[in-house]
Amino acid sequence: MGRSPSLSSLIARQMIDRLPVEAQRSLKRSLGRDVRRRISVADLDRELLKAADVFSTSEDDARALLETFELDLPTDRPPDPFSDRYREWTWELYRLISGRATYSSSNEASPFDLERAIQRPFPFQTGSATVVGDDLVARGHLLRCIGNSRSRLTPPARIVEFGPGWGNLTLDLVSTGFDVTAVEVDESFCTLIDERCSSPELLNVVHADMLDFVADDPYDAAIFFESFHHCSDHLGMLKNLHEIVRPDGPIFFASEPVQKMAYPWGPRLDGLSLWSTRTYGWLELGFDSHYFSQALETTGWKGHRIRSGVSQRRDDVILALRDRSSKSSPAAM
Ligand SMILES: C[S@@+](CC[C@H](N)C(=O)[O-])C[C@H]1O[C@@H](n2cnc3c(N)ncnc32)[C@H](O)[C@@H]1O
Repeated sequence: MGRSPSLSSLIARQMIDRLPVEAQRSLKRSLGRDVRRRISVADLDRELLKAADVFSTSEDDARALLETFELDLPTDRPPDPFSDRYREWTWELYRLISGRATYSSSNEASPFDLERAIQRPFPFQTGSATVVGDDLVARGHLLRCIGNSRSRLTPPARIVEFGPGWGNLTLDLVSTGFDVTAVEVDESFCTLIDERCSSPELLNVVHADMLDFVADDPYDAAIFFESFHHCSDHLGMLKNLHEIVRPDGPIFFASEPVQKMAYPWGPRLDGLSLWSTRTYGWLELGFDSHYFSQALETTGWKGHRIRSGVSQRRDDVILALRDRSSKSSPAAM
């Protein structure tokens, strides 16, 4: 049986976590703990080809391999993360990583076999107990947050879920008795969710880009579960949410990559994100926690973070409510 970390190593880890990302990296490297190689775009295809080989035999081994490297961050980043120049810098980085001339939300399509996915959707089809466990923990944590949040959502509250993908959370919500509208840009996922759902009276699947979605009647809550970071205009989406959700309704950002980063926001540079962007063209943004608080604040929201502490990976929810005191400084997350 593995030993739990001692109190002193927990305190040391917390102190290291408070350092700027680059300082954390050099410290970890000098302690021999950060073994991630920095690679250039020229090396990308070669590294990803190795991962593709491993994915065909083991999801866990491929993910472990992708954790061993990251892309070198370009140094020409404009200072103001809310400026047009900064946004253009993020698109340039996307083009570089994806190898594509432009981004459109049609790039978000996922190749899968419908019949197989009805029987065995992601994460089960990975055959990895770790990936399945992480997904169940993340969903469980989010569902607890939905039930325990200040707004205490109970069925048959109306919830809009953006980017439901395979529909696992969608079906959890419907099975719990919520009335769910699922807004998904990939038509094959829309078909899959409809096919998997056995209570169609509680489900409305809308094939649309989340940025184009308009609510006829405001919802009680909105949820992004690993989907907000695919949005091509996150500030625009945050503004739209004021029309989509009722005035005291919560927004849940679950398992989104809001973390300590070396830059405020933009394409993530870790191996798994590089793999997804290069292979499929998906937009894999990441947000520095401080920037995310600022982005919420400038668009009229106030967020607070709820972690379960069970897993360090995905059991992470940011609950945002309409900000009634817009002068406050960004809450620490
Ligand atoms: C990483 S998957 C997450 C799926 C699911 N929420 C989960 O966690 O299992 C991201 C999902 O967002 C969808 N998506 C990406 N961009 C979108 C957009 N602009 N509008 C609506 N859905 C989008 C993708 O098609 C995909 O289903």
